[in-house]
Amino acid sequence: MSSTRIHNFSISLDGFATGEPQSLEAPFGHAGERLHAWMFATPFCGGDGPAGIDDAFARRHDEGFGAEIMGANKFGPPGWQDDPDWTGWWGEDPPFHTPTFVLTHRPRPPVEMKGGTTFHFLTADPVEALEAARDAASGGDVRIGGGATVVRDFLHAGLVDEMHLVLVPIVLGRGVRLWDGIEALEDTYEIETVSSPSGVTHLSFTRKAVT
Ligand SMILES: NC(=O)c1ccc[n+]([C@@H]2O[C@H](COP(=O)([O-])OP(=O)(O)OC[C@H]3O[C@@H](n4cnc5c(N)ncnc54)[C@H](OP(=O)(O)O)[C@@H]3O)[C@@H](O)[C@H]2O)c1
Repeated sequence: MSSTRIHNFSISLDGFATGEPQSLEAPFGHAGERLHAWMFATPFCGGDGPAGIDDAFARRHDEGFGAEIMGANKFGPPGWQDDPDWTGWWGEDPPFHTPTFVLTHRPRPPVEMKGGTTFHFLTADPVEALEAARDAASGGDVRIGGGATVVRDFLHAGLVDEMHLVLVPIVLGRGVRLWDGIEALEDTYEIETVSSPSGVTHLSFTRKAVT
């Protein structure tokens, strides 16, 4: 059975995965690039940081996936559904290289991009979306790519097997919080933490075996 995994999902100390307002000019609102500066510095992302802890975690983003599921607000800025030519932030060859399912209440026909990414747009609950992604993943794992709303919904539904969060030492104060309505994840997940010299803390959540 393929796993459902989350990687490199970055949150502030107060739990925000994005700032506000989200816009074409500022996809992460007032957070700017601060949530992902650790990742952009890694050799994996073409940065000039060391091939150390951050790099090792960042690379797992690309390992073993056959499909991705993301939310409408990760795919584009508010109002992208009104632009028939919008195909995401990532240019002609997006970094997913798999079928990629965009959850939206305003679906449109699939768009095939270069490099193996095809965007599929669907209105579906997490169970149905995961079923569609698994069918398309050819036995590979399914990545839940965010944003916070979608990650939270999949956690609520009990569908996440592994989650890698990155706690970034900034306080955003506003935006979209990951944790609202979530409690006692420690009951269902083994949680390990590793601090990086860069200042971020990596948290690995692994679903406990059912005994
Ligand atoms: N910190 C990180 O590592 C990280 C990672 C990825 C993204 N982000 C950021 O997070 C932000 C986006 O997060 P977000 O929480 O605002 O939104 P999101 O999770 O990307 O998307 C939520 C939206 O997706 C649609 N949707 C969700 N579930 C659905 C369902 N079951 N059926 C149909 N449509 C559904 C709805 O949009 P509609 O009703 O409009 O269709 C909903 O408002 C962006 O700023 C992005 O850049 C951060």
